[in-house]
Amino acid sequence: MVNSPTLQQAARYRAVIAGTGSAVPDKILSNADFTRMVDTSDEWITTRTGIKERHIAGQNDTTATLAAEAARKALDDAGMDASELELIITGTITPEMVFPATACFVQEMIGAVNAWAFDLAAACSGFVYGLSIAQQFVSSGRYRSALVIGAETLSRITDYDDRGSCILFGDGAGAVVVKAAETGSLGLMYSTSFSDGRGWTSLNCPAYGSRNPVGKPLDDPKMVYMNIHGREIYQLAVRRIVELVNECLEKCDLTVDQIKMFIPHQMNARIIESVGKRLNFSDEQTFINIEKFGNTSAASIPIALDECRRLGKLQQGDIILLVAFGGGLTWGANVIQL
Ligand code: ACO
Repeated sequence: MVNSPTLQQAARYRAVIAGTGSAVPDKILSNADFTRMVDTSDEWITTRTGIKERHIAGQNDTTATLAAEAARKALDDAGMDASELELIITGTITPEMVFPATACFVQEMIGAVNAWAFDLAAACSGFVYGLSIAQQFVSSGRYRSALVIGAETLSRITDYDDRGSCILFGDGAGAVVVKAAETGSLGLMYSTSFSDGRGWTSLNCPAYGSRNPVGKPLDDPKMVYMNIHGREIYQLAVRRIVELVNECLEKCDLTVDQIKMFIPHQMNARIIESVGKRLNFSDEQTFINIEKFGNTSAASIPIALDECRRLGKLQQGDIILLVAFGGGLTWGANVIQL
């Protein structure tokens, strides 16, 4: 079934998913809440995006606290102590601070004293990029374990006066423990990643950074918020996700019906449905939970994967396909046998 030398079989060890966890803040913003904030309706939001509600960080929630909670649950699920971790990667575009890395805060919060830790800024592709990096380190035998996290507090960079974007985003974190194994399922079979910096204008948050530092007057005060060109992104996302899935199927010598679950970045239910239809995934094979969480960027896939597992939809040996597209532009995918 698997015949490419680029796949996990050719590697020294199998990089297997040993545990998953997720965390979202308690506070919820429903579509009805948005009708009191901007000129919108439940009907518009539901039909255009599939979103019904999203979790929003409270005063005491930060990207690192959510990430650490998800990490503890993933470690618990894996039956591992934090001190066994050798690497922590956190995908985020809403870091705890400019520096140090959010991953270092997580390391301190969970007591992963033997790990090195860094952040990865690839917007919605942060988690799939992170898994592909962990795969390299673990399958080569360099490390026995890694923790990959996607965590965001997008509410902190959302313009709640802009009805075109504010209804989309939520906060949360998801985490996965990757471990080296010599036998059992294949684990991470294939990862692929792409970027196109020319597309940065379509999705960005321009301030504050080196180009627009604190203290320099901004051309537009809204530059501190996410700026999205939704229609442009919609069309590109559909195209790139279809390409990614076809590449994964070809490289792994798999057919659509061999994929137990297609878990795409939760950007817009209409995008997911349209991609699913083009690729002939059935509704049962396509995991959508955007109605409860909105778009949580790097956190969306690990939150979905964790929910999918906890709902009992996945068994050992099942093959799953994770696919993301986001700001950068960035896009990527992972094929995993659980
Ligand atoms: N309620 C009511 N009307 C609205 C709302 C709203 N919340 N938002 C926009 N409208 C109006 C617009 O003003 C426009 O009105 P007009 O025709 O009178 O000018 C009309 O609805 C259509 O607006 P569009 O922006 O063209 O709507 P579209 O169908 O493209 O849907 C959406 C917008 C949902 C954002 C869609 O383009 C999308 O999902 N894009 C991809 C998602 C995306 O970019 N995500 C960002 C990822 S970034 C990250 O994850 C960090």
